[in-house]
Amino acid sequence: MAKEPVRVLVTGAAGQIGYALVPMIARGVMLGLDQPVIIHMLDIQPAAEALNGVKMELVDAAFPLLKGVVATTDVVDACTGVNIAVMVGGFPRKEGMERKDVMSKNVSIYKSQASALEKHAAANCKVLVVANPANTNALILKEFAPSIPEKNITCLTRLDHNRALGQISERLNVQVSDVKNVIIWGNHSSTQYPDVNHATVNTPSGEKPVRGLVKDDEWLNGEFITTVQQRGAAIIKARKLSSALSAASSACDHIRDWVLGTPEGTWVSMGVYSDGSYGVPAGLIYSFPVTCHSGEWKIVQGCVCSANETSSFFCILHCVFLTQSIAFWVGRLVSRLVNLVVQNSYSNYVLVWRKEICNPEYVA
Ligand SMILES: NC(=O)c1ccc[n+]([C@@H]2O[C@H](COP(=O)([O-])OP(=O)(O)OC[C@H]3O[C@@H](n4cnc5c(N)ncnc54)[C@H](O)[C@@H]3O)[C@@H](O)[C@H]2O)c1
Repeated sequence: MAKEPVRVLVTGAAGQIGYALVPMIARGVMLGLDQPVIIHMLDIQPAAEALNGVKMELVDAAFPLLKGVVATTDVVDACTGVNIAVMVGGFPRKEGMERKDVMSKNVSIYKSQASALEKHAAANCKVLVVANPANTNALILKEFAPSIPEKNITCLTRLDHNRALGQISERLNVQVSDVKNVIIWGNHSSTQYPDVNHATVNTPSGEKPVRGLVKDDEWLNGEFITTVQQRGAAIIKARKLSSALSAASSACDHIRDWVLGTPEGTWVSMGVYSDGSYGVPAGLIYSFPVTCHSGEWKIVQGCVCSANETSSFFCILHCVFLTQSIAFWVGRLVSRLVNLVVQNSYSNYVLVWRKEICNPEYVA
C-alpha cells in the first residue's frame, strides 16, 4: 500500500540552498524512494516571485513522489501540518563576514518561525536548522518553541562531517563511502573540531584506523583540521557564494539518517542539545557523534580525546558557550523589547529598557 505523504517545510526556499534542496526532497533523496512528499516552501515577500518560479519548476519536473507544493510568504500557512522543517531561510554570511555578524539579524526571524512551528506543525515535527549561525539559531528556536521536545530540534554539522570524509578519501585515494566515523565537535563554524581518532576505512583486509593508514600526524593534526574548518570560507572565495549543493545534500543526509536510522557500526555528526555528555553543559546545541534508530538520535559515548586534544576541546566548548549565551540573552531582550514596543506606550518602553537593560542583574 502506498505511504501517506510526509509534509516537508523548507524556509528560504527561493535561495540557492533551497533551489538545490527541494528537487532532492522531491526525488526521494531525503526520505526514501517509496516516500511521497508534499513540499511547503516559505520565503519573504521580496522573493515571492522567485519562489513561485521554483514552484513552477517543481511542477514541470513531474516528480512522481511529489504530491503537492505549498509556496507561500505566510509563516502560518508554511508551518501548518509539517512533519519535518528544514530552516534554511535567514541572512547569509557574505565574503569577509563572521558568523557573529549575522547572529542578530537571525534572532528575530527564528523567534517568529519557532512560535509558528510550535502552534501549527504536526505533532513530533522534526526540525533541522541550516541557516547560520546554525547552532545558535537552533538554540533560539528551542527557546521560543518550548512545547517542541528538545530532542526534535537539531542543527546541521553533517556538511562538516562529509567534508572531513571527503578530505580523508582524497588523501588516501579511497572511496568516500569506505570512510566512516569521523566526528565534528562543537559549532558549525571555524571553531569546530574535526576528529579522526575513531575514524576507519573499509579496506580489502578489513576496517583500518584512519591514523594508521594516513601515517602523517602532522597533516591530520594541522592542515586536515584547518581545511575542514575553513572549507566554507574557501568555497565562498571560489564561488563568491556560500556552499549550496553540498549543504542541500548534507541536509538530506541528516534527515534521512535521523528518520530512517544510521547503518550498524556507523555514526554521524549532528548538532543536538547536550545532555551533559563529554562535559558539555546540558542545554547547549552542540555537535556530537550520534547514532539514530526509530527516528531518535543518541549520543555515542566513549569517544575520548587524547591529552593534546583536550585543550582544543575545551577551547571550542568555550566558544560555543559564549556565542549561545550571548544569543540566548540577546533573543530574550529583543523579544521583550519587541513585545513592549507593540503593547505599551513609549514611556513604558523607556522605563523597562532602563530597568531591564541597564540593570546588570538581569543579564547575570
Ligand atoms: N549549516 C551549514 O552547514 C550551512 C552551509 C551553507 C550555508 N548555510 C547557511 O544557510 C543559509 C542559507 O544560505 P543560502 O546560500 O541559501 O542563502 P540565500 O541568500 O541564497 O537564500 C536565503 C533565502 O532565505 C530567505 N529569507 C530571508 N529571510 C527569511 C525569512 N525571514 N523567512 C523565510 N525566508 C527568508 C531569502 O529571501 C533567501 O531566499 C545561510 O544562513 C547560510 O549561511 C549553512
